[in-house]
Amino acid sequence: MKRFTNKNVLITGAASGIGHAAATRIASEGGNLALLDVNGDKLGQVAHELSEKYAVKVIYEKCNVVDFEAVKAAIDASCEKLGGIQALSHNAGILRCYNTHEMTLEQWNEVISVNLTGTFNVNRHALRHLLKNKHSYVVNTSSIAAYYRHPWMSAYSATKGAIKSFTRSLFIEYAQQGLRANCVLPGSIDTPLGRSFEIPEGADPKLLKSLVPFDNATLVSPESVAAAIAFLASDDAFHMNGTEISIDGGKI
Ligand SMILES: NC(=O)c1ccc[n+]([C@@H]2O[C@H](COP(=O)([O-])OP(=O)(O)OC[C@H]3O[C@@H](n4cnc5c(N)ncnc54)[C@H](O)[C@@H]3O)[C@@H](O)[C@H]2O)c1
Repeated sequence: MKRFTNKNVLITGAASGIGHAAATRIASEGGNLALLDVNGDKLGQVAHELSEKYAVKVIYEKCNVVDFEAVKAAIDASCEKLGGIQALSHNAGILRCYNTHEMTLEQWNEVISVNLTGTFNVNRHALRHLLKNKHSYVVNTSSIAAYYRHPWMSAYSATKGAIKSFTRSLFIEYAQQGLRANCVLPGSIDTPLGRSFEIPEGADPKLLKSLVPFDNATLVSPESVAAAIAFLASDDAFHMNGTEISIDGGKI
């Protein structure tokens, strides 16, 4: 099944993990790609590999999602080269673990800037292109942290809850213009970000026991999340709007 033939999809965070897996899945289904990531070297490699392997058009722009003007320039240039976009999968993000009572304002602001302001910047500039289509799709990557209690991730969880609310807002604002806006909520995914989770110094590791309802809750593959992203970015999700899919291996 090739759901993305003649479709162009913008994917952020595409140099690694879930964004990379989403790019691979969509390219394997015939989609042309516009890839964004702050890691330009890795992104270039991914773009080269996918265009070779799947014979699709892949363009890429090194871009920090925190920078409003740089995101605009990267998305406008990508859309010009591809001739528009029909879907967005926004994944760029960071995880930082702190004891909240020790977190500095700088540490808080870093997480808010990349995860939340980055989501605004990317969606804001992509929307102008997406809304040129009769139908278009936004898939923002939130997290089960939007709902679920995670110690030491108060800043991260706040951004992921906000991404969910932001996306629901987009849905009602643009549904009449043919936009579908949904989120994926990954659990613990086997990526560099997922593996970077750490217990801050002096914190009580027993708090982690509240996280998993059973002992063998597993790390989920990025490909499983990519399958849900591809679904929500395709016409298969024509009647999905303003909602979320959890891919967490049964964690919640
Ligand atoms: N891995 C997990 O357990 C997990 C769970 C829930 C949600 N998520 C979310 O999934 C998304 C992707 O995470 P991942 O696990 O694939 O991590 P990852 O570290 O493998 O990939 C994240 C990518 O985002 C890019 N990035 C980071 N900051 C950026 C910036 N300022 N501008 C542009 N690009 C930037 C990185 O270079 C990297 O390529 C994130 O939003 C994350 O919060 C991950």
